[in-house]
Amino acid sequence: MERFSIVVGDITCSDAEAIVNAANTTLLGGSGVDGAIHRAAGPQLMAECRTLGGCETGQAKITGGFRLPAKYVIHTPGPVWRGGSQGEAALLASCYRSCLTLAAERGIKSVDFPSVSTGVYGYPVAQAASVALKAVMEFLADHELPQRVRMVCHTESTAAVYRQTYNMWYAGEKGERL
Ligand code: APR
Repeated sequence: MERFSIVVGDITCSDAEAIVNAANTTLLGGSGVDGAIHRAAGPQLMAECRTLGGCETGQAKITGGFRLPAKYVIHTPGPVWRGGSQGEAALLASCYRSCLTLAAERGIKSVDFPSVSTGVYGYPVAQAASVALKAVMEFLADHELPQRVRMVCHTESTAAVYRQTYNMWYAGEKGERL
């Protein structure tokens, strides 16, 4: 099984043990992938989210997956893009690290991420991909769990940017290009 991959799809259909939600700090739903996950999970997800008291940008909280195929949802509010000089990169990296740390602590074996902050929050995809992949690859180098991490991009164009970034920085001589 490949430890890391980049795929195109709808994360609400993912068979990963946990999927990540690009949430907001209220954790009370929204549009984009947040809306899609809540629609697919059903009302029990909102009910559990209401008990969490929100979540800070760059942090992560976990709930059940309810009607989703995934057993868990890990909610992380990404940074809103404000031009790049307001600490956005550090906050975005923290999203990925916080989600992976939570998953490893819970013994979760597979985690699927959407492209956090690159929709409503306006983070340029190429810059987000560099930050996201660096955070994920550094975490996987130091940890046994999760055993599998995927970037689930909603469009081929987003996936192409992540693949290009991955191949530029992380595809070694062995040619494990994605
Ligand atoms: N599966 C996978 N990826 C998806 C899906 C889906 N079903 N739906 C949307 N996406 C992608 C978008 O195309 C984008 O690449 O998720 C990425 C993140 O976009 P948003 O969902 O807009 O999230 P974000 O930019 O982090 O903004 C978060 O939007 O929905 C609200 O409540 C949310 O306020 C928060 C803000």
